[in-house]
Amino acid sequence: MQKHPIIIDNDTAQDDCVTILLALTDPAADLRAITTVAGNVPFDRQVANAQMTLSVAGRLGDVPLHLGCRQPMLRPWVSAEEVHGDGSGGLEIELDPDAISDEHAVDALIRLTAEQPGEISVVAIGPLTNIATAVVKDRRFVENVKSLYIMGGSNNGRGNTTSSAEFNFYVDPHAAQIVMEAGFTDLHIVTWDPITIRDATYSRARYDQLTSIDTPIAAFFKKVCDATLSFNESVGIDGSTHPDSITLAALLYPELVLEEGRYRVDVDTQSELTMGYSAMAWDKFGSEANAHVVERMDGEAFYDILARMLQTPSVPSRPIDGLAG
Ligand code: BDR
Ligand code: CA
Repeated sequence: MQKHPIIIDNDTAQDDCVTILLALTDPAADLRAITTVAGNVPFDRQVANAQMTLSVAGRLGDVPLHLGCRQPMLRPWVSAEEVHGDGSGGLEIELDPDAISDEHAVDALIRLTAEQPGEISVVAIGPLTNIATAVVKDRRFVENVKSLYIMGGSNNGRGNTTSSAEFNFYVDPHAAQIVMEAGFTDLHIVTWDPITIRDATYSRARYDQLTSIDTPIAAFFKKVCDATLSFNESVGIDGSTHPDSITLAALLYPELVLEEGRYRVDVDTQSELTMGYSAMAWDKFGSEANAHVVERMDGEAFYDILARMLQTPSVPSRPIDGLAG
């Protein structure tokens, strides 16, 4: 099986943790580094969540963890704690400072992709501050990245942070627009609406089935996803949402992408009403496409991939307080 070398740029909470686990356990993934960016929950909490995730897979210290930008470019940071709680379901770990790289995330993104130009893909599943900063710091980054997979925006559909904006694009719309205009030749976007809410949302019954698997990874998955599932149900979303991990799956298993279109994507940075809105224009408007926007995914096949991941045995690298077993 072909292994895809990847870097995951993320705001570690809930499905970001799931994405890291998938990258650590899936036979199609070769995880080279994890980079963190301001997003879901307070930055230092994200670092703890990332270390817990590496630890539950027995991989703490194996995969470099680089800390990145601690705030968006121009706007104040906005959290998603009302959605994810602390992002780990109240688990705690004693931090291992030796398992945190001294190199800034932006420098690591630039260096790793320059060492193997055109070979490493980036999966960006948080606000795009690190990615935009890498673009601004070293334009060669744009050519050196093989493929850039982004979880963000909605395809002219509803938002989840405001009526018009999805969280990742809302938190740092300026960074998102820099990335849209940067000229990445193979840029793919997995949206909130329709992809996440139609193809990557699993009902409580199916979630219970998934989380009944008896492994440390499955117990951890349940802990990190429970709060978000309850929040979703309180706002009328019928299940556990997996926007970030299905984005990684789109890269690892392109056959899961059932429909994809070429679009010109721009992110609103001007209007308070529609800040972070992603305008996705198709051919009709005569604009030059800058992205492949995923339009339909095979949610059933992805469910099976999650189930396989949860069956992976592991011995946690260090104790995680609150995790049974
Ligand atoms: C995005 O926001 C975060 O809360 C999730 O991890 C995902 O990246 C969904 O809007
Ligand atoms: Ca995320």
